Amino acid sequence: MKQRNVIITGCSSGIGRCVAEGLKERGYRVFATARKKCDVDILIKSGFESVQLDLANSASLHSAFETIFQKTGGEIYALFNNGAYGQPGAVEDLSRDVLRQQFEVNLFGTHELTNLVLPVMRKQGYGRIIHNSSLLGFVALKYRGAYNATKYALEGLTDTLRLELMGSDIHISLIEPGPIESRFRKNALAAFEENISVENSPFKKVYERLEERLKAEGPVVPFTLGPEAVLDKVLHALESKKPRPRYYVTFPSYLFGYLKRVLSARMMDKVLNRI
Ligand SMILES: NC(=O)c1ccc[n+]([C@@H]2O[C@H](COP(=O)([O-])OP(=O)(O)OC[C@H]3O[C@@H](n4cnc5c(N)ncnc54)[C@H](OP(=O)(O)O)[C@@H]3O)[C@@H](O)[C@H]2O)c1
Repeated sequence: MKQRNVIITGCSSGIGRCVAEGLKERGYRVFATARKKCDVDILIKSGFESVQLDLANSASLHSAFETIFQKTGGEIYALFNNGAYGQPGAVEDLSRDVLRQQFEVNLFGTHELTNLVLPVMRKQGYGRIIHNSSLLGFVALKYRGAYNATKYALEGLTDTLRLELMGSDIHISLIEPGPIESRFRKNALAAFEENISVENSPFKKVYERLEERLKAEGPVVPFTLGPEAVLDKVLHALESKKPRPRYYVTFPSYLFGYLKRVLSARMMDKVLNRI
């Protein structure tokens, strides 16, 4: 079988790195991109083809796409939109700039890259696009408003795109993981410390606990899985004749997916408020 080319964003750690390794082992030609040059160097040393791709920066994104397009001779089987970060903080403590930055990375960059890849897929007549959304793409949690908003928006955009791609052999899937071991909390802590003013917030007390949780080592939530759990779903989305529109990962995704279907919004709020 011809080697299939796959682009992955956010491969410096966590799910991106794990999926890059898994797909490479399986024989895919993986373009494992990363935001920072130092991580690109590490990925190259580990045997990957890697280019720098910062989702917050259009020029970086276009340049990465152009390099990969040249290297593959313009054949791209799949794009795994994985790179993102979580900006913790109560909704009323989010400035316009901080919220915009969260959208720049988690939604606008992902959308722009997808729009670069789509004409290639349309020309070749096939392709797979996989968006790494979240359990927080369909239920809300307190102090996760910015992240929630970007993942809900990603789900909306994807649902529309899926309809627009109907009848083509280009398939788009959403992965909706619950808690997965990665550097996510560490990166969220950095975003929190940089962008949220704790002293002036009515949530000062809550933030002390939030920071403790973000600083904790190891899993802090039951049913946390390793990133390989996401790899399994990515493989299905890449290799099944009928990739699913949505893939839950971890027990909490299945549980809250079910609860959202059967509970009223008010009941659901009561459940979510306890978390
Ligand atoms: N871990 C979970 O519990 C969980 C649950 C549901 C969904 N997810 C989703 O899974 C995906 C991967 O997260 P993870 O858990 O593997 O966390 P992670 O270890 O923090 O990895 C996130 C990756 O995204 C990259 N990234 C951040 N900003 C970027 C930018 N501007 N341009 C390009 N890449 C950027 C990070 O690069 P840097 O190292 O340069 O920052 C890193 O490589 C995300 O979409 C996340 O929303 C995670």
